[in-house]
Amino acid sequence: MRGVRSGVFVLALVPFGALCLRVVQNDLGPDPAKELSLATGEWALRFLLLALAMTPLRVLTGRLEFAQRRRMIGLFALFYSSVHLLVWMAFLLGFRWGAIAEELVERPYITLGFAAYVILFALGVTSPRVMVRRLGRNWRRLHRLVYAAGVLAIAHLVWIVRTDLVEAVAYGSVLLGLLAWRVYFNRGAIFRRLA
Ligand code: HEM
Repeated sequence: MRGVRSGVFVLALVPFGALCLRVVQNDLGPDPAKELSLATGEWALRFLLLALAMTPLRVLTGRLEFAQRRRMIGLFALFYSSVHLLVWMAFLLGFRWGAIAEELVERPYITLGFAAYVILFALGVTSPRVMVRRLGRNWRRLHRLVYAAGVLAIAHLVWIVRTDLVEAVAYGSVLLGLLAWRVYFNRGAIFRRLA
């Protein structure tokens, strides 16, 4: 349904629009670069978890729309991750390539975040139908890595919020629930038919 698709697309852009508005209104607090980095990181993770939730929602409700929106929502996870990466490179490190390379190697939480990003990027590039056809069975194998991206993103978050773990535990629990669901249903024929 085109209406649902457009609605989801517009809704998914709302956080980005709200952030742009805060930039224009100079309303990002005392450390705008950090605020932008945190906000885009959070939205990247929310969209990633939402994309992972689409198949369980499709099975639980029987509504095909959930499965049909999975790709778009996954691409929004990539979109917000890309903005997150760009903010870090441009506003936090001023495109100093030496410093960027150093941080990638020396800061484990950056390495973890970047590994998650590489996976999301690979999934995004191979998401068009033509790639699904070209990769055949390997497409499904590759796209299972979305769970690894989720685990890496949560590890990235846990590493950052060393003191206040409430948020990391909340997101981590959602991911754990989705992983448990996947393992459970993967054993049955239901998943093979509907995923
Ligand atoms: C592309 C490589 C990545 C880099 C360089 C990166 C870098 C960063 C940085 C610098 C912060 C702020 C840390 C701080 O100063 O407190 C951050 C926070 C965060 N990032 Fe990333 N990140 C990357 C990938 C990702 C990905 C792929 C996700 C999720 C899909 C993600 C989710 C988050 C979250 C949830 C936060 C914390 C937000 C909060 O505390 O409110 N990051 N990241």
